[in-house]
Amino acid sequence: MTSLEITKKIGFCDSGVGGLTVYSKFRSKLDTEDCLFFGDLKHSPYGDKTKEQLIVYSRNVFNFFKSKDVKAVIMACNTTSAQTYPTLKNEFDFKIYPIIQSCAKILAGLDVKRLGIFATKATVNSGAYEREINKYNPDITVFSQSCPGWVEIVENNGQNIPENKELIKKDLDRMLKNNPDKIVLGCTHYPFLLDVMSEYVPREMFIDPADVFVDYIIDDLRKSDLLNPKTTKGSEEFYVSANPDKFKTASKMFYQVDKVNLIDE
Ligand code: DGL
Repeated sequence: MTSLEITKKIGFCDSGVGGLTVYSKFRSKLDTEDCLFFGDLKHSPYGDKTKEQLIVYSRNVFNFFKSKDVKAVIMACNTTSAQTYPTLKNEFDFKIYPIIQSCAKILAGLDVKRLGIFATKATVNSGAYEREINKYNPDITVFSQSCPGWVEIVENNGQNIPENKELIKKDLDRMLKNNPDKIVLGCTHYPFLLDVMSEYVPREMFIDPADVFVDYIIDDLRKSDLLNPKTTKGSEEFYVSANPDKFKTASKMFYQVDKVNLIDE
């Protein structure tokens, strides 16, 4: 990498505010990178879409990042990591970090026998969590459960509405019937619901992969000589493909987003 390249920006993407659960943790550990965040609200929720649709959306977002000349893209989205990363990984020159594949080895090292995964329908259908974790540790029983409606609850800031809490509790009950030792929040929107979930189940039960994901990314950027050497705070820009005001409102719980740019993807 030349000194010109290490000062390039890093792109983060998701269908919406979910990716901020990764972005905020990244930023709190490393704030000297210049960052772009893209929320594809026009096509949210991703979890109900087909693989073909998701590849088109991801490719558009990656082309946007290419036009911004980024050095790396963080797929802060389990659904596209599961469904589109295998296709797109060889189409672009920048480094790509997909959340599931980047965290699998660390999750496989957990001292658990039964690992439950809450995820979107598209992630569950892909079998990506089971496959990636069992690659490193075939002795863990991994089982995924989809959570219809949860992403919409987060995007609409509706986590305290009684019928939404009831829906979350029902899904938790269904998961607990399978006796998980831990439950992975396999959709980056779900950590927004941790307060509600921990009214019913102790918080220690849940694993937010964002924690290990950001450590993995920072370590890999360092090893790849991609860290920006500057010591002042990096810039940040937020883009959405629709509904900038909705993004701003929903993000409040997790990150202070001052300005949101609308891009027609
Ligand atoms: N936050 C994303 C994920 O981690 C996408 C959720 C959705 O839009 O359905 O899967």
